[in-house]
Amino acid sequence: MEIIRIPRILQDVAITHRMHGRKVGFVATMGALHEGHLSLVKMCREESDVAVVSIYVNPAQFGPSEDLAQYPRTLEEDREKLKKENVDILFLPDDSLMYPEGFSTCVEVGGLSGKLCGAFRPGHFRGVATVVAKLFQIVSPVRAYFGQKDYQQALIIRRLVKDLNMAVEVVVCPTVREADGLAMSSRNRYLGKEERQAATVIFQTLTKGSEAVRSGILKIDALEEEMCGMLRAEPLVSEIQYCSAYDPETLDEIGETSDTILLAVALKIGGTRLIDNMLVRRGAEK
Ligand code: PAJ
Repeated sequence: MEIIRIPRILQDVAITHRMHGRKVGFVATMGALHEGHLSLVKMCREESDVAVVSIYVNPAQFGPSEDLAQYPRTLEEDREKLKKENVDILFLPDDSLMYPEGFSTCVEVGGLSGKLCGAFRPGHFRGVATVVAKLFQIVSPVRAYFGQKDYQQALIIRRLVKDLNMAVEVVVCPTVREADGLAMSSRNRYLGKEERQAATVIFQTLTKGSEAVRSGILKIDALEEEMCGMLRAEPLVSEIQYCSAYDPETLDEIGETSDTILLAVALKIGGTRLIDNMLVRRGAEK
C-alpha cells in the first residue's frame, strides 16, 4: 500500500490511472476505522482496479464547540487494517496542504444542508461538501463509496455531484451494526459502559418505528410520539435533537401517503452525539 501525503502527487497518479482506463474507487474517512468503514473499503476493493482511501480529520466540518481536538486518531491500526484489505493508496493529507493560507472557496449544497443534522451543526455540511469536492478533484474516482449511516451526508454528496457535473458515481452502502444493533461509529468509543448500553435504545426505537410503518400504521404524529417516548424513557439520553419520519429525498416532514419513509434520530447520551436511521417501505423494509 502506497502512502501519499501531497495532493498534487496523488492527483497526477490518479489521472494517469484514469488515462490508462483503470477504474479508481475511493472511500473518504476521518480514520478510527471500524467494520462500517471497512465494509465500504471491501466494496471499493471489489469493484475497482485501484482502491484509494483517505484519512483526514477535516477541521472545516467541526463546529467551535465540537470534538475536533478529541476526535480519535488511530493511524497505526488504521494503516494495518487498510493493508489487510489490499488498498492500493492511502491518502493522508495535512491541514496546511488541504487549507493553505488564503484558502477562501467553499461548496454549499443549499436546502438539504440546513435540515436535520444541519439545523444543529451550522456549517457542518458546508465543511463536508467542500472537503469531498476537493478530495474528488484530487482522486478523480469513477466511484466513491459512502455509508447510509450518514444518510443526509450521502444525499448531499449525491446532490453535489449532480449539480456540479462531477464524473463520479456515488455508491451508498448499508449501515454496519454491532451485535445489539448499535450503528458502528468512531464516536461510540466516547461512551462509558452504561452509556454504551443505553445507546441501544436508538436501534430499538428505529426497529419499533419500522415495524409500525410496515404494518401500515402511518399516522406520523403517533409514530413520532411513540418513538420519542421510547427515547425519553432512557434516563441517559440527555437531549433528543430530532426523531421522526422524513421524505428520503427532501428530508422534509413526510406526508401520510408517501411510500418510502426515512426514520431518523439524532440524540445525545451524556456529551456524545449519536445518529442513526432506517429507510422503510410501506409493506417491506429496504
Ligand atoms: P467518517 O465518519 O469517518 O465516515 C467515513 C464513511 O464511513 C462515511 O461514508 C460514513 O457514512 C461511513 N460509515 C461510518 N459508519 C458506518 C457504518 N456503521 N456503516 C456503514 N458506513 C459507515 O463521514 C465522514 O467520515 C466525513 O464526513 C467525510 C465524508 C470523510 C468527509 O470528511
